[in-house]
Amino acid sequence: MAENEADLDRRAYAVWVSEVMLQQTQVATVIDYYSRWMQKWPTLQDLASASLEEVNQLWAGLGYYSRGRRLQEGARKVVEELGGHVPRTAETLQRLLPGVGRYTAGAIASIAFGQATSVVDGNVARVLCRVRAIGADPSNTFVSQQLWNLAQQLVDPSRPGDFNQAAMELGATVCTPQRPLCTQCPVRSLCRARQRVAQEQLSVSQNMPSISDVEECAPSTGQCRLCPPPTEPWDQTLGVTNFPRKASRRPPREECSATCVLEQPRALGGARLLLVQRPSSGLLAGLWEFPSVTVEPSGQCQHKALLQELQNWAGPLPATQLQHLGEVVHTFSHIKLTYQVYGLALEEQTPVTTTSPGARWLTREEFHTAAVSTAMKKVFRVYEGQQTGTHKGSKRSQVSTSSSRKKPPRGQQVLDSFFRSHNPSDAPSLNRVAQ
Ligand code: ADE
Repeated sequence: MAENEADLDRRAYAVWVSEVMLQQTQVATVIDYYSRWMQKWPTLQDLASASLEEVNQLWAGLGYYSRGRRLQEGARKVVEELGGHVPRTAETLQRLLPGVGRYTAGAIASIAFGQATSVVDGNVARVLCRVRAIGADPSNTFVSQQLWNLAQQLVDPSRPGDFNQAAMELGATVCTPQRPLCTQCPVRSLCRARQRVAQEQLSVSQNMPSISDVEECAPSTGQCRLCPPPTEPWDQTLGVTNFPRKASRRPPREECSATCVLEQPRALGGARLLLVQRPSSGLLAGLWEFPSVTVEPSGQCQHKALLQELQNWAGPLPATQLQHLGEVVHTFSHIKLTYQVYGLALEEQTPVTTTSPGARWLTREEFHTAAVSTAMKKVFRVYEGQQTGTHKGSKRSQVSTSSSRKKPPRGQQVLDSFFRSHNPSDAPSLNRVAQ
């Protein structure tokens, strides 16, 4: 099929949007967002002329909001500075487009343009670490570079996009972090992690030294930068999930915020819930939230500080009606934020007319389609009394209420032949890994 420039740009745009959405988000969640996005902005030109408010609105609930903003910045750059054409190689994509890193650049170049370039996301890194028994921390710069090199040697030049997507899918569905489905794995016969498991089991049954004691690049020498550190022995109970090594992560920073749903009675018109806009940079930039203040986790003075904040936006308010309702704990990428949720439902005789710039009164319907974070939607549910007791709403969020309220394909052949090769020059540094 002959493809002209416009087709290629459209294809690149479609891949770009899907890859950005798929970062840190599962396919099942992305599908609806992707369909709505492509319906609203079918071309780069459409996206370039959208407002940030519209982008945030469509992105609401997907998390990591800077992704949407940077996608739009990228579209503007293509339209305004690159003549409407998406750069055609991984190197130029990464260099010229804001928000496009090595992974996204590789995905667009291979899937949309057929460039024989690799991608390494978390799923591919795990597959490679297991297949080649790489026990060092894959987030380490040297190890990561080796994984990219290895992926580049493996990518099928005749169908790079399919190869890369198959590798990602293998990691997402078969070679999973816990309980991988090894018996269904198409590359199980090549997998050195599996071989290592078998050898370890043999050593245990024969009361022999563990494999790590006899390997040429034994961890005990501390020489090999791809082996596990000597301080981390083989764990028999983990099987192939000994690979990859878990990266040592810093726990998220803990913060606390007091937030209040301020509601006006219906009689005063449609607009009812007070939302204020967050600053245009930093966490949840530009999104709307219920008036909030950062407070000490001890809870001291939060009532007073919150009331002051509310009055800054809405003028004098009946302090006695400000009620604590519960809490929502939400983990953002690096911050564990506990929202202390308050509510203040105004009565008809205490109308609030003040509306400052950066604040809006929204109906419930408007609130549900506004550019607000998932955490704020949970806060609202606490206010609505929809949550009873404490439970885990999602992996990232917890809610509790106050007690007062209730034939092998071609890619496979390439992979096979690569791993069958015992020529050390094939993968110089990786051949030092346990074989
Ligand atoms: N899994 C399969 N294909 C994928 C892709 N293109 N991006 C992310 N994950 C995938």
